[in-house]
Amino acid sequence: MTAVGIDAVEIWTGNLKLDLPGTFAPEKGEDPEKYTKGLGLNASSFPDSYEDIVTMGANAAHRLMERKGLEPDDIGRIDVATESAFDNSKPVSTYVAGCLEQVYDGDFHHANKGERKFACIAGTQSLDDAYNWIRAGRSRGRSALVIATDTALYARGDDGEATQGAGAVAMLISEDPNLVELSAEQGYGSADETDFLKPNQQFPSVDGKRSVQVYLARMREALEDFESVAGEVHEEDFVYAPFHTPFPGMVRKAALLAYRHVIRDTEIEDDLATEIGRQPRPEAFDSDDEYRDALREYMDSLKRTDRYAEWYEATIDPTLTIAREVGNWYTGSVHVARASALKHALESDREMTGKKLLIGSYGSGAQAEIHSETVRDGWEEEITALNIDEQLAERYEMTWDDYEEIHDAHNHEMDVDVEEFTTPSEEFVFDGWGRMGERKYRYVE
Ligand code: HMG
Repeated sequence: MTAVGIDAVEIWTGNLKLDLPGTFAPEKGEDPEKYTKGLGLNASSFPDSYEDIVTMGANAAHRLMERKGLEPDDIGRIDVATESAFDNSKPVSTYVAGCLEQVYDGDFHHANKGERKFACIAGTQSLDDAYNWIRAGRSRGRSALVIATDTALYARGDDGEATQGAGAVAMLISEDPNLVELSAEQGYGSADETDFLKPNQQFPSVDGKRSVQVYLARMREALEDFESVAGEVHEEDFVYAPFHTPFPGMVRKAALLAYRHVIRDTEIEDDLATEIGRQPRPEAFDSDDEYRDALREYMDSLKRTDRYAEWYEATIDPTLTIAREVGNWYTGSVHVARASALKHALESDREMTGKKLLIGSYGSGAQAEIHSETVRDGWEEEITALNIDEQLAERYEMTWDDYEEIHDAHNHEMDVDVEEFTTPSEEFVFDGWGRMGERKYRYVE
């Protein structure tokens, strides 16, 4: 079977930066270490006043098409995953295509366009759609453009305000891909949950503490489901495990649970038993409470072992490097984590061809999905082409007053006119409203 997967990736960050320990924490009267150590975040990316989900998505897609020497005829699908859409009918992908048609001679009239919604997991679902479309033999040799783009802003004063972010990831899905091949096997954990939702509103209603528990529960189900089709997952099977990263502290919690799961009934559990005992099994306890207390104690001890720390340092921490500087990008987040991991491999001269990644996607509401990816021999070329470090360094750093102004400007319910903080160059920008309330865009040379 010919490999199908991600041929190329591009990341586009919002052009503004909010320093969390330096600017946000003092205004909130909080210890900066809550951000750097607790949540694991240094900064959030924000969109400038001329940026939105369309400009960021189109800019990422444009960079990708230019780099790969693609023309519109090479693309048979444009799928946009977002939970920040501003229209209940016209999909963001039509706006993105309209932007790209301003800078290419051809058009996307024969490409299927759509918009995917399921909180943050929609980005991965769009990858699946593209994969299935190619596997079904419907692509006519063309590739799919998948764009995950969000302005992940929370209402002022919401606990989630600390974890905001804005940016887009564009991915080209093709046969015989350069970057990674997607596994046919997938595992799901899905349930009707009320933890994070946006009932026709721009900023989410969130039960933050509960959302953390739901993330962990659905992710565990997805891992078990994945194992039921792909076989047991072991510590040494995967070089990196990029997970959906609303904030790195969330992944720290998920990683510990995942590690406990994958070492159960293995030599690693036996080796660790002399130091911290064996994992508690429910059948050995009279009540759920006793079992849970024992489990908590075991997890606390496991976290402190050298073996776990080394695994975390090698397999999880490298997936969080970009997230630490940009915050939550919702649909793009797990795809940023993958890029972060491969960037780490490149920078540490690690040979990755043929090696595996375990991808954990998640969306509130709620659904988790686990699949694996095999790194392809063009990965170095693709990751070398990323310019995310330059983009991050060039962001304008906002003062607290700047932040208050720009936050309101991105609230769809408010009509706020804010001067731009940065000067756009070689990118699409928002250019005002049309006669039917549509958004207009132009390319700035
Ligand atoms: P909070 O109450 O502001 O923070 O909200 P906290 O008091 O729980 O502190 C956070 C961590 O910092 C804790 O670590 C503290 O101990 C630690 P933990 O105990 O949990 O390991 N801390 C410190 N550490 C060192 N030095 C200090 C210090 N102070 C505190 N001085 C919350 C946290 C996550 C609830 C909030 O940020 C929130 O509501 N976020 C939005 C929801 C969210 O991101 N949920 C994650 C799972 S759901 C998800 O991923 C889906 C999502 O992406 C949406 C989608 O799918 O579309 C959100």
